[in-house]
Amino acid sequence: MSAPVVIVTGGGGGIGRATCSQLGARGARILVVDRDLAAAEESARLAREAGGDAAAHAADVSDDAQVAGYVRACEERFGGVDAFFNNAGIEGPIAQIPDYSLADFEQVFRVNVTGVFLGLKHVIPALRRRGGGAIVNTASQAGLRGVGNLSGYSASKHAVVGLSRAAALETATDNIRVNTLCPGPTATPMMESIHTAVLGAGGDPSSFVTRIPAGRYGRADEIATTAVFLLLDAPAFLTGAEVPVDGGMTTP
Ligand SMILES: NC(=O)c1ccc[n+]([C@@H]2O[C@H](COP(=O)([O-])OP(=O)(O)OC[C@H]3O[C@@H](n4cnc5c(N)ncnc54)[C@H](O)[C@@H]3O)[C@@H](O)[C@H]2O)c1
Repeated sequence: MSAPVVIVTGGGGGIGRATCSQLGARGARILVVDRDLAAAEESARLAREAGGDAAAHAADVSDDAQVAGYVRACEERFGGVDAFFNNAGIEGPIAQIPDYSLADFEQVFRVNVTGVFLGLKHVIPALRRRGGGAIVNTASQAGLRGVGNLSGYSASKHAVVGLSRAAALETATDNIRVNTLCPGPTATPMMESIHTAVLGAGGDPSSFVTRIPAGRYGRADEIATTAVFLLLDAPAFLTGAEVPVDGGMTTP
């Protein structure tokens, strides 16, 4: 596909930015969506520097009208949508369930689950208009196994896996593939924020690394390479899969 059009949500963050740069190097045209416009603009600049075309777009992925707005903006600017990296997410608090507030739980679900659902709701018709395409939803290793002290996050990422599977089944005859990316702990601003929260609660964040068989955090570019494969290169028959990139963390 020459100059594919890709929407990347959470495009201003660690994994989103690395993916925008790699997509740019492939000559893609990218709409970088983030609630943080300055971060999205920087990712768009890096994607253009890498050789692509890119524009930043501010939107909250948990707002129906704003999601419809970013899809419309992409179609107006680039003439359609070929691939969608449904990637924005938040980690929520580090706390045991009795101490985890309902407001925090609902906010994590609002961004991580409703945001992914709304992205699918508005992008699938755009891909059908285009005659096919690819969707990658970002879950986590925490969507494949339970993670204590991150109940809202872990439950929301399990929900992303379920949404992806349903979407893959609904689009399987439309030349659309839908896959779920499941990163392990990866060195990004989100992981820094988790570190700070664990330290603040008197915990030891180094325990995260000891649970990774590879003995280190993932790098954003490693997650991005996998996302780009699933977005641009994977065969049409690869759909409905959960793809772990986690240094062996979820190896049975
Ligand atoms: N870093 C990790 O260890 C890790 C591991 C597994 C899965 N993930 C997942 O990967 C994805 C990207 O994470 P990251 O590590 O790059 O995090 P990050 O915090 O660096 O980036 C997340 C981006 O999403 C944006 N965002 C948050 N809420 C939004 C909203 N409501 N609307 C629009 N944009 C919003 C933020 O502004 C930020 O730029 C997330 O879904 C995350 O849960 C990360």
